[in-house]
Amino acid sequence: MIEKIETLLDEIKSLSANDEKEVEALRIKYLSKKGVINDLMTDFRSVPASDKREIGMKLNELKNAAQEKINSLRENVRCHDENACALDLTCTPYPVKLGSRHPLSLVKQEIIDIFARLGFAMADGPEVEDDWHVFSSMNFPEDHPARDMQDTFFVEQHPDILLRTHTSSVQSRVMEHSQPPIRVICPGRVFRNEVISARAHCFFHQVEGLYVDRDVSFTDLKQVLLLFAQEMFGKDTKIRLRPSYFPFTEPSAEMDISCDICGGKGCSLCKGTGWVEILGCGMVDPAVLDANGIDSTQFKGYAFGMGVERIANLKYKIKDLRLFSENDLRFLEEFTAAN
Ligand code: DAH
Repeated sequence: MIEKIETLLDEIKSLSANDEKEVEALRIKYLSKKGVINDLMTDFRSVPASDKREIGMKLNELKNAAQEKINSLRENVRCHDENACALDLTCTPYPVKLGSRHPLSLVKQEIIDIFARLGFAMADGPEVEDDWHVFSSMNFPEDHPARDMQDTFFVEQHPDILLRTHTSSVQSRVMEHSQPPIRVICPGRVFRNEVISARAHCFFHQVEGLYVDRDVSFTDLKQVLLLFAQEMFGKDTKIRLRPSYFPFTEPSAEMDISCDICGGKGCSLCKGTGWVEILGCGMVDPAVLDANGIDSTQFKGYAFGMGVERIANLKYKIKDLRLFSENDLRFLEEFTAAN
């Protein structure tokens, strides 16, 4: 009988259950009137008097072990039931539910990683900026529409202080403190006075790039951007540069990538053109170099700036910008696998 009890003790130690039903089934098997332990109690009556003490103690041990095990299993399955846990402050916090990284952080990190491999360092600047760094040092004329109240959030009673409208301000912050070679990317949040809709928001994210050195050419810029596009969107991605205008670059261009939804044939995303725009770029205007303390007769540079939301939209086919800032878990949890 001792052997039988020992075997049962081992068996009980290794019991497990997934829900209350399974716990109840175990209780019935071991502890109910018709259960295994009660059967042993019946057998116990016919044990010789000389063995009664030893076997009686073992039997008690078995009964207590079974009771404790069933109690702890019950506690455990209750704690995994979310509704019960919400109210039970004594419940164990385990397993801890892991969050996932925000899609914009994922995309920003991917952009940073690609340029870091090309030797670009990181640079940072303030979100609340002055007019000089955002506009004047970037060669914006006094009457440029971007300075207008409709686009820019100014700090009340301080017409010179504003929320930066682009990360190009970090270009100026970097150049005023360093001399070439300069090779930086500047990720950050920017603000514009826009009505919030699926396609526009009052804040979004950009990554700025700046390279200043002695012999920097437009070809260098094009090659770096091609490499970026292929790393980000796949080896078959093509790029095209269209002439454009920015006050701080001359010449300036906008870059499109071949539409990866239709493979360049034309669809609703690329509006039938086979191309989608992803960034602005150009050769740093000599006036910008000079305004920021770099001798434009000695040095040249290229710069580019892209919207992180734009890249994320294309990469993950997200149509509504507002999803990025609503913190809806149903949206955010879709990116768990990408973490
Ligand atoms: N600052 C521009 C914007 O917010 C983007 C940009 C365009 C940045 C061209 C650049 C550039 O550095 O060269 O729209």
